[in-house]
Amino acid sequence: MSAKGILKELEGEVQAINQALVDNLQSHVPLISQVGRHILLSGGKRIRPLLFLLSARMCGCRGAYLADFSTIFEYLHAATLLHDDVVDAADVRRGQSTANTIWGNQAVILVGDFLLSKALSLAVTTNQLRVLKVLAQTTTMMAEGEILQLLHTSNLKINETEYLEVVNRKTAILMAAACQIGAILGDAPPEQEEALTQFGLNLGITFQVIDDILDFTGNEREMGKPIGNDLKEGRITLPLIHALNQATPADRERLQEIAQNLEPETVPELRQLLDKYGALDHARQLAREYTLKAQGNLEAFPQVPEKAYFRSFTEELLDRTY
Ligand code: IPE
Ligand code: IPE
Ligand code: MG
Ligand code: MG
Repeated sequence: MSAKGILKELEGEVQAINQALVDNLQSHVPLISQVGRHILLSGGKRIRPLLFLLSARMCGCRGAYLADFSTIFEYLHAATLLHDDVVDAADVRRGQSTANTIWGNQAVILVGDFLLSKALSLAVTTNQLRVLKVLAQTTTMMAEGEILQLLHTSNLKINETEYLEVVNRKTAILMAAACQIGAILGDAPPEQEEALTQFGLNLGITFQVIDDILDFTGNEREMGKPIGNDLKEGRITLPLIHALNQATPADRERLQEIAQNLEPETVPELRQLLDKYGALDHARQLAREYTLKAQGNLEAFPQVPEKAYFRSFTEELLDRTY
């Protein structure tokens, strides 16, 4: 199934999620609705609410209220994107001007905070302390991840383990929480809850590694955000980490020079050096390994339709171009 294939299959679910996202956003402060609608209705893929919805269903939980709870994960995601774009001073996301360029940093940070509290308020309505515990841990770890990433800005000595720790926290943990909370609401046995949590983590790592590869190889129009931005923002990601590790002293020095001051003219040389050390292939290989792990985690479940969706999902995310 192709990337658009699975989202098309799940069109009904995505529509319900979209409706719930608008319904639950209500606020009597007009700026909140404006900024909120901008970030929520500009073409996000809805991966996190879908992970939640399918996880809950796979564990036997059904009901229209799932769409409402699924918004918890998109609100959290949207809040981190708003904050991330301020921190990164990003101008474009999903092919449109970022909220910070339209409303300014102050308003955007505060609306991000609103979305974060909205997500937690919705979580309270599940009436399940464990859901709150997972979300509290998740949001704490995500904040740590963003700060850790900030501390690693322009750190050309960052190693693969440190990189993966950032990825785990800033991206994978939220996908894991979406899956785990689906399992909790579905009253799944502990081993299935654990399997789904690990599934989300492994999928999340694949997702971010691919995002980081696409930042070197992607198509700006398709991605809806500028390419080559990570390095400009001082973000040293897996392909470069690998090349720096493998390079001869002379090439390493050159890579460091290029990375410290990336100019459009040096991009071809950078690509050449990355290719010389198989850096993108290495990153792809790692993404593939995590995808295989995620697929292995699904073994804990019988052959239900959601399992088939999840399997295609893992493959699509590995092959995604946006
Ligand atoms: C973007 O996530 C941020 C990363 C974790 C790389 P998505 O690619 O899921 O964002 P949207 O919501 O679909 O735009
Ligand atoms: C993803 O980080 C944002 C979060 C997970 C908070 P990136 O900075 O890599 O995402 P993009 O590239 O801006 O979408
Ligand atoms: Mg960013
Ligand atoms: Mg990125």
